[in-house]
Amino acid sequence: MNQFLMTFYITTPIYYANSLPHLGHLYTMIVADTIARQRRQQGIETFFLTGTDEHGINIERAAQRQGRTPQEQADYVVNYFTKMTAAFGLDTAHGGFDIFMRTTKPFHAEGVSELWRRIAKAKTPKGKDALYKGHYEGWFCAACAEYKTEDEYAKPTVDDEPPTCLIHDTKLDRISEESYFFRLSAYDEALLKLYERADFVRPEARRNEVKSFVAGGLQDLSVSRLKTSVSWGVPVPDDPNHTMYVWFDALTNYITAIGFGNEQQNRAVGFEKFWPALHLVGKDILRFHAVYWPAFLMAAGVEQPRGIYAHGMWLDPNGRKMSKTLGNTIELDVLNRYFSTDAIRYFCLREMVFGQDGRFGYENLIDRTNSDLASGLGNLSSRTLTMIQRYCGGLVPSGFISDEGRLPAKRAGVETETTAVSNFVEHARDEFIRHFENFAFSRALEEAWGIVARTDKMISDAKPWDLAKDPAQVQTLNAVLYRAAESLRWLCVLLYPVIPNSSREIFKQLGIDADSASTDPKNLAWGELIPGTRIDEVKPLFPRIDKKKTMDEIKEQQSEASDQRSAQPNDGRTSPPVSESSPADAAGSGQHATEADAVPGVTYIDISDFAKIDLRVGEVKTAERIPKADKLLLITVDIGEEQPRQILAGIAQYYEPEKLIGRKIVVVSNLKPRKLRGYESQGMLLAASIGEEGKPVIATFMEDVPNGARLK
Ligand code: MSP
Repeated sequence: MNQFLMTFYITTPIYYANSLPHLGHLYTMIVADTIARQRRQQGIETFFLTGTDEHGINIERAAQRQGRTPQEQADYVVNYFTKMTAAFGLDTAHGGFDIFMRTTKPFHAEGVSELWRRIAKAKTPKGKDALYKGHYEGWFCAACAEYKTEDEYAKPTVDDEPPTCLIHDTKLDRISEESYFFRLSAYDEALLKLYERADFVRPEARRNEVKSFVAGGLQDLSVSRLKTSVSWGVPVPDDPNHTMYVWFDALTNYITAIGFGNEQQNRAVGFEKFWPALHLVGKDILRFHAVYWPAFLMAAGVEQPRGIYAHGMWLDPNGRKMSKTLGNTIELDVLNRYFSTDAIRYFCLREMVFGQDGRFGYENLIDRTNSDLASGLGNLSSRTLTMIQRYCGGLVPSGFISDEGRLPAKRAGVETETTAVSNFVEHARDEFIRHFENFAFSRALEEAWGIVARTDKMISDAKPWDLAKDPAQVQTLNAVLYRAAESLRWLCVLLYPVIPNSSREIFKQLGIDADSASTDPKNLAWGELIPGTRIDEVKPLFPRIDKKKTMDEIKEQQSEASDQRSAQPNDGRTSPPVSESSPADAAGSGQHATEADAVPGVTYIDISDFAKIDLRVGEVKTAERIPKADKLLLITVDIGEEQPRQILAGIAQYYEPEKLIGRKIVVVSNLKPRKLRGYESQGMLLAASIGEEGKPVIATFMEDVPNGARLK
């Protein structure tokens, strides 16, 4: 038997461990989870991977900012991922992913090293070494101790001048560093040949983009950095002074996770069994997956992925990119608090045409939940089951209409032939499957809702509540209710991958013993719902959401969050800083001390109150007096962020500005910024207040401490 058909392997990107997950991450996981469930439903042995990308300079930096080691930083983010994936039913325990891959797992390092070694031995199609040592040249900022890319420096206004660092406003040095290069330029023809496979990169428009990028000529790729520049990563085999390029390391996770280069992992999962994978990625990281990754695999002689599907981005309801600064992000803890996982999954798959950008707003989510789920599927299910309860004694009736029953049925306007209904449902099922296989989830769901609408109309036209009053219409009534219940069974099977909880719940309420998770939609046959089955208790599936109340609550939370954000000035990073409070913590902070906790004379605070204050070690970079303000000094302090903070301190009468420079101090970094004398103060420094006059004595450290370290 063809192993290709027996097993299936699907991956999401592995997410950077420098910031907490958001809707973009959740989305790809939901899509991958949906596809994985659909394959499992068909009896195909499926392996679903998601995880975190934990190496590289950005993780090192994020860790430093948070006063953690890089491993602690990664663990912190993974801990949040663990809670989040469980809350959204995406983890293994809920039938979701099979592995949460982490690039810091030791077996991964072994596998990446194996891939590197193979490439190091390989020749390009024209017989040159695929890997060679050269020099990486770039603009280096001494203060940041890193190379700057074009968007990280200001171009010079005068020719021949070097660019300037956007953070330090200092001139950059042209530096060249030894590096290993992958001879990517030699793989253009082979890659173009690969793109002839129409299903290799999808959708079509993205395939064309990738093709023209490659046809435009490829440059060799620097795939290592000196350990002295980047140390947090996998060392290059036999040359530990070099650290592998983080994308080389990250992309390889897709094969190391299933056992490439590690016997134990291979036994546990099986490289031969599951490779090649289908990779789901956002369009912004398509080039890494569709150009670099296939080229690495070619050089190493490893089979190409089954395909790469690039989805679009979620924008806000006005079509703007989501960002913390604009305050238009969708927070996972808010989603989790107000919406069921099935509603979120349904919305994500229904609202975004897979491959194109989509818009995500809480209001739209409420509207869709109320119209399609509460009034649509939910209502159909509850009205059908309630009528079976009421008119058929809680037993699924027979759908049979005898010869004598045909005339009354016709009189009531009800189809006498079952095929009128079953043909429609079968056709919708076939279309649903076809769209689903083409990743056209939105179209597939439209087909399913076509069944909902038709069944609803059948009930409304037949008016079972009137039929029930007429003894001559027993068969007609039973046939209508049977058809509705059987259509509902089909819907549950089709929709299981999208709304697994509700699908199973409706199955249960229908009294069906089988599991919709393992019923292959292709094998559905009309009439298999057994008459006489006792239905279960009817429970509401999708309670209607009170739009105004919910939106008011969400807005209130957003404005609180935005107040907190403005207390932490945007430091120009594209990804949000790791927030110190997880949803679980946030729930905890709602607790209040009781009167019994109070001790006279002392106002105790809770540890969670203290945790709200973000105290950081800072180093004074500049200090100067402010004209006409004899008490204030304007200082800038490096607290481990990309730009020093500007702080106004009322210490001018006691400290000479020059003497403060280089001094380590303590900064309250999440104090709401405020303006004083026309200058914005982005925090506060800590000082003891001595004597009657309150002479300030700045808090400092005896030992050497890194900037940005947190005080706890
Ligand atoms: N670590 C790399 C991937 C390595 S894969 C071998 C990375 N990580 S990431 O944390 O930045 O996550 C990126 C994924 O999130 C991408 O697929 C990206 O498209 C997706 N999204 C980020 N913002 C998004 C939206 N607003 N909407 C949809 N997806 C978005 O890149």
